[in-house]
Amino acid sequence: MAQTYKRTLVTSALPYANGPVHIGHLAGCYLPSDIFVRYKRSKGEDVLFICGSDEHGVPITIKAKKEGITPQDVVDKYHKMMGDSFKEFGISFDVYSRTSSKIHHQTASDFFTVLYDKGVFTEQVTEQYYDDEAKQFLADRYIVGTCPKCTNPNAYGDQCEKCGSTLNPTDLIDPKSTLSGSKPILKETKNWFLPLDKLQPKIQAYLDQHTDWKNNVYGQCKSWLDSGDGLQPRSMTRDLDWGVPVPVKGAEGKVLYVWFDAPIGYISATKELRPNDWELYWKDKDTRLIHFIGKDNIVFHCIIFQSMLMEHGDFILADNVPANEFLNLEGDKISTSRNWAVWLHEYLLEFKDKQDVLRYTLCANAPENKDNDFTWKDFQAKNNNELVAILGNFVNRTLVLTHKFYNGQVPASERYTKEDLIVLEELAAFPDKIAASIEQFRFREALSEMMNLARLGNKYLAETEPWKLIKTDEERVKTVMNIALQITCNLAIVCEPFIPFTSSKLFALLNMPTLKWHAAKQTSNMAAGHQINKDELLFAKIEDAEIEAQVKKLEDSKAANVQTVIAPSKPETSFDDFNKMDIRTGTILEAERVPKTDKLLKLKIDTGIDQRTVVSGIAEYYKPEDIIGQQVSILVNLASRKIKGIESQGMILMAANSKGELSFIVPTKSDFNNGSEIK
Ligand code: 2FM
Ligand code: ZN
Repeated sequence: MAQTYKRTLVTSALPYANGPVHIGHLAGCYLPSDIFVRYKRSKGEDVLFICGSDEHGVPITIKAKKEGITPQDVVDKYHKMMGDSFKEFGISFDVYSRTSSKIHHQTASDFFTVLYDKGVFTEQVTEQYYDDEAKQFLADRYIVGTCPKCTNPNAYGDQCEKCGSTLNPTDLIDPKSTLSGSKPILKETKNWFLPLDKLQPKIQAYLDQHTDWKNNVYGQCKSWLDSGDGLQPRSMTRDLDWGVPVPVKGAEGKVLYVWFDAPIGYISATKELRPNDWELYWKDKDTRLIHFIGKDNIVFHCIIFQSMLMEHGDFILADNVPANEFLNLEGDKISTSRNWAVWLHEYLLEFKDKQDVLRYTLCANAPENKDNDFTWKDFQAKNNNELVAILGNFVNRTLVLTHKFYNGQVPASERYTKEDLIVLEELAAFPDKIAASIEQFRFREALSEMMNLARLGNKYLAETEPWKLIKTDEERVKTVMNIALQITCNLAIVCEPFIPFTSSKLFALLNMPTLKWHAAKQTSNMAAGHQINKDELLFAKIEDAEIEAQVKKLEDSKAANVQTVIAPSKPETSFDDFNKMDIRTGTILEAERVPKTDKLLKLKIDTGIDQRTVVSGIAEYYKPEDIIGQQVSILVNLASRKIKGIESQGMILMAANSKGELSFIVPTKSDFNNGSEIK
């Protein structure tokens, strides 16, 4: 039987304070968590909603370098900006804290000390990548290379954002420093590791109790545990100078790994909010802990943070981690660096007072089980065809008729017909239906149920036609309008978690105090004789021109980006070094997909010298059947290596444009035989 809890602690991933908030953030975790919390509050439950800025780690120092300011300046600037955006969109955190705060440094430091004193960490001197030009160890995002799991060429040292894998810098193929672009050297350094390999059985047991988690979350955790070598020890400290200092003798100049300190930020933020009883929310078994996150945070929350909590021993563990997948924009991955995003602060300037339109669209399209796409056309359609045409239309007709027939006073219901009773019964059933979906983290379904209530209202008005009936049966119209007003009032209640600004406006139009969830099970919240306020439109149509302007803005940013993302030139190389490479023209004789990969093709190439097998990451751009007979350039004296169990002998040279698309490089004259040298 499902456990019953006395209170709920909801955390929403702490966003890095290195840039403004965009729609991907909102759809990923802030909107779903806000809907969940608002609903819980409306039900009168004890719930805390925790968030704050993640102000440590390499994302911050990289941004500081780029902007030519200090890391502290970066986090001060963006912490404020992000906090403001969340507030303006009605994301109703009880606290929006930050990890550069004193309380967080102390809490994270104490947490580390407890694990250290318990002997949880293993202390290891290992060889780590070091940039000899920049004189710095290359942790996390200071190093990029090819992901060994999915061949993404831009995987970070700690994580591949493409396939979600957590990585160590030494896992990367062809690593490169993001500081100087140079090839890093290995240098010894001491760090403290969380022995996830030893903890695997405990984590396994914990996950076994949570087979009810969303498939995308449970599946990703499972695949981590079940992967070939299982979990690996992971360093919880870094050779960096920005972060929480490691509170151990001999660790001077080192800081806690950002993924160690950031989730502890949830605890520090709770302490800041409730200094006297924060422990109730973190240590009492009657508290239900829920982490809302995006899919790139799954492993860190479900495996690493839960291991930390388990090993500490004082804390409860998460009961659920309802992670969403990614939201794309107009068919392309949202990207801060390419300015391919809809920024909340800009949206607010361009669509003043339309926060709920975006909330509605993002919830209706939430990437709950798979990646999803936001398009401006769909945004317009959701506004015009649903918010205006269904919800707005019903409410408006009800309010206008109430003023017209009764000077804005709620008429008394006289005698219910069989049809009325059915509508009233359906009306009373809505809150439970919506609640059931919210409780299961199915926010799209819940939202569509909420809209169904407005549809019920429209259908009722269309069938009863009070505007005609008033001429023949005034008594009957009183009942009809009473019911329409009850529906309107209950809509104000159940729409609040999703579109809170509209809910407030509705309560104001109805001249009613804000009613809580349980009231929506009643069908008589609006008393006869109650005076409502002057009607006003809830939503306005969005015109084509507004949408075209947004699409143009994105196109402009794409065009600007194409001009600006030419990769910088690499450090100088010698003629002798270049001359060591033996590049030839060749022809593809056979091509087939490498099973269980998206990107790889196995090619048989005639190099003029011999026929050989090469595995190449071009499957996204070329179909095997289209490239038989294709001429290519091939580096033939590259040491052979195994890729997905296949011995790859050489490398096909490709031109890569700024979108990462690949194209063969071939002689432009046709009579170049296989084996011609490229010099
Ligand atoms: O991915 C991110 O944006 C991280 N800053 C999320 C951290 S969530 C938690 F651990 F604080
Ligand atoms: Zn990957």
